Amino acid sequence: MEKIRVGIIGQGRSGRDIHRHLFETQAPLRDRYEVVAIADYIGERCVALPGVAPSPELKIYTDYKELLKNRDIDLIINATCSKDHVALSIEALEAGFNVICEKPVARRVADFDRLVSVAAVCDLVKSKAEGLSLRYGIPHIFTDYRKMLDSSAIDAVSVCTDHGSHALISLDALATGKHVICEKALSANRKDLGLMVAAESRYKDLVFSGVFQHRFESWYNYLRGIIKSGVFGRLLTINLNVLCWRGADYYAADEWRGTWSKEGGAVLINQAIHFIDLLGWMSGGVESISGSYANLTHLSIECEDVASASLIYKNGAVGALTATSSSPLEWEPVLSFNGTSGSLDLCNSEIRRINFRDKSLESQITREYAEIKQNDRELTLSKAYYGNGHPRQLANFISAIRGEEELRVPVHSAAHAVDIVLSVYESYNTGKRITLTF
Ligand SMILES: NC(=O)c1ccc[n+]([C@@H]2O[C@H](COP(=O)([O-])OP(=O)(O)OC[C@H]3O[C@@H](n4cnc5c(N)ncnc54)[C@H](O)[C@@H]3O)[C@@H](O)[C@H]2O)c1
Repeated sequence: MEKIRVGIIGQGRSGRDIHRHLFETQAPLRDRYEVVAIADYIGERCVALPGVAPSPELKIYTDYKELLKNRDIDLIINATCSKDHVALSIEALEAGFNVICEKPVARRVADFDRLVSVAAVCDLVKSKAEGLSLRYGIPHIFTDYRKMLDSSAIDAVSVCTDHGSHALISLDALATGKHVICEKALSANRKDLGLMVAAESRYKDLVFSGVFQHRFESWYNYLRGIIKSGVFGRLLTINLNVLCWRGADYYAADEWRGTWSKEGGAVLINQAIHFIDLLGWMSGGVESISGSYANLTHLSIECEDVASASLIYKNGAVGALTATSSSPLEWEPVLSFNGTSGSLDLCNSEIRRINFRDKSLESQITREYAEIKQNDRELTLSKAYYGNGHPRQLANFISAIRGEEELRVPVHSAAHAVDIVLSVYESYNTGKRITLTF
């Protein structure tokens, strides 16, 4: 059988991975496919890969349009930046090739492309900004965010720095008239959290959002809806147990991690916070907390790798929260909702256990939940446990700026989870039960 002759456009990490995969990782593919052409406008990327013997016929192009003239190619793999996925794939199709485009999520990014463009990227480390600029074709780079904010070409800013710098950067951005979406956790301390929430009221004409992307996953919305509808009866206990692993290398990679001043905590404020937010968002909120924390195994960091809290919810239910980053399990968050009529445990968003007094209701919930999971399997750009909510949250942020949708995670709402986390620390430090502020 003749081999299928492949041309890969884009020799960034993805393009090289595909090349390597076709060559060696999946042995049966190697007998069926042969990479005969590669293209990347950065010439030095177009070199032989370690461990990959190039096809004797391999042609290298710095202009993909030249590759599209190579009539020996049967299949084009488009591994370019997401902004080029649609246009370049269509160009290759119209040139008569079969085309596979990397990352189906690109369609969503392409939708964004009609509405927004990334005008600038800023990082204290210039090479990081340059890398992103090259990879995604971002025209301007900065190392000083204030200089970036001076640009009138920017309408909105996404803040993705360490937690300790979120408030300062977000407030400076609002002060220059920019809309802001700030990654979790909004802040590393109470003072900054208060400033963020106050700024939301002050800058009413600007959209100011905190990131909690799991709120955009359809299955959590379904669960929140049935909790609100009362199918669980009176809610009695609502619990969360987060078991995960973060090693010394993770904490050593960036100087802010595991520090009180720049991260504001460790396992609670960084990993567990996603599910702490879901607890509050699904239940209607937490009223008060008594907590404790310790560092049992991560001796290189200042903050906690185990924590627990007893919660009283606004709806009267009580609950237990536990979290650790010293578990042998990489990522296992378990949420548990227990009421007088029904009870359900979710593990990594799958139903692990369900018991309702009304068995037909139990079957209906099981079926509907499975259908929602089945119908909502968009691929994600990154690690699976980040979920598929990020593009949706960005779409909501953009629509809110355009006045087309209500903002779904305003800052005061994102502040609740941070308040819960900071209250666990405060409770243990003071020996008191803490009533939440936000
Ligand atoms: N929502 C999620 O699922 C999710 C996932 C991962 C990270 N995050 C959040 O994203 C944020 C960043 O995390 P990360 O893992 O990318 O951290 P990181 O350390 O890899 O990246 C942070 C970057 O910010 C830069 N930076 C810091 N201060 C700056 C300043 N004043 N001006 C310009 N650049 C500055 C640093 O140089 C660094 O490159 C954190 O808030 C984290 O909690 C969220």
